[in-house]
Amino acid sequence: MELQGKKILLGVTGGVAAYKAAELTRQLIKQGAQVYVAMTEAATHFVGPVTFQALTGHNVYCKQWEHDVSNGMAHIDLTRMVDCILIAPATANCIAKLANGIADDLLSSLVLARDCPLLVAPAMNKQMWQAAPTQRNVAQLRADGVTILGPGVGEQACGEIGAGRMLEPAEILEGVLSFFTPKLLAGKRVLMTAGPTFESIDAVRGITNLSSGRMGYALALAAARAGASVTLVSGPVSLPTPAGVERIDVKSASDMHAAVMARATDANIFIGVAAVADYRVAEMAEHKLKKDEGGPPAIQLIENPDILAEVAALPKPPFCVGFAAESRNLEEYAQKKRLKKKIPLIVGNLIQEGFGGEDNRVVLFDDHGVHPLAPASKSALARQLIEHIARSC
Ligand code: C5P
Repeated sequence: MELQGKKILLGVTGGVAAYKAAELTRQLIKQGAQVYVAMTEAATHFVGPVTFQALTGHNVYCKQWEHDVSNGMAHIDLTRMVDCILIAPATANCIAKLANGIADDLLSSLVLARDCPLLVAPAMNKQMWQAAPTQRNVAQLRADGVTILGPGVGEQACGEIGAGRMLEPAEILEGVLSFFTPKLLAGKRVLMTAGPTFESIDAVRGITNLSSGRMGYALALAAARAGASVTLVSGPVSLPTPAGVERIDVKSASDMHAAVMARATDANIFIGVAAVADYRVAEMAEHKLKKDEGGPPAIQLIENPDILAEVAALPKPPFCVGFAAESRNLEEYAQKKRLKKKIPLIVGNLIQEGFGGEDNRVVLFDDHGVHPLAPASKSALARQLIEHIARSC
């Protein structure tokens, strides 16, 4: 419910993607937003106002001269009560009108009369998108402080392939969530690790652990939404790359170590969330080990480098944050780890309360003391952690 308490006026204009605005409405509402919909006349040819009325529970505003607002000032009233106007899809014609201050229907009048931010998700054929007037108009909107979401690249309704299609509803939702996130890490470069590592024994087997990567991925997304440029060095997980994050896939602790050390001096903040294997196999077998060749194999292990401790020991280290997943004595072990690795902040959690799941309970340990956070989803905790890190670094 990341949009709890937010009121959004969704403008729908006449493109084929108008049908996706219904799914977008659903997703915005699912995040707690109150959604009001204004449609152009052309949009009503693609999708009926009743759909939006049913989804939002509010009247849909279609015509300038027919509405239920008693003082006849719908265009002013609506914009005064919402936190933003989001137009999705926005046709080339709509964008041209907005860029030039034309107010010849209810939606364009709402936009001109607004005192709230405007977000626009363009949707059009690739030639229309590339056309010089459209590019001029979009540049003008950007210069006017409008947030442009997309467009996406791919197959278009007309069968052509290129830039111009509307972003998917989930991507637009992400744009809205990012828009409302305070930019606490603006200008900061964040380097992170997440997920497990996989230490090969032979061609098919290895040593790994049950880390899902969810906490690290939630933190990467929260850092990106907070305005940081984020590089995520990830062990093998089956999670989609968070929006706006550069992801580098690695397998073993040695790969992770190399990828991190190549980038650590450029980072302002390093967050080690990965469950890095403490040991790796001294010599990986070239071929699959066979059961019938001399009994159980003796596997010799050697220690992996401690990535976090090495980053913290750099001459000019970034602000380092570690994680301590323990099965008992959380405070004692987490504090010991923080001092041993010489890092300013460590996030402790009990394995039985978070490892591999959707929710977590964490306690922060830093120079100022012990800060327990209430149990919550990993994304809610990630937001609080980013706020704590932004205050500390
Ligand atoms: O020493 P331990 O594995 O318990 O410490 C956990 C913290 O150290 C985590 O932040 C983890 O990402 C990091 N770590 C690391 N390299 C290792 C082992 C742990 O960066 N080889």
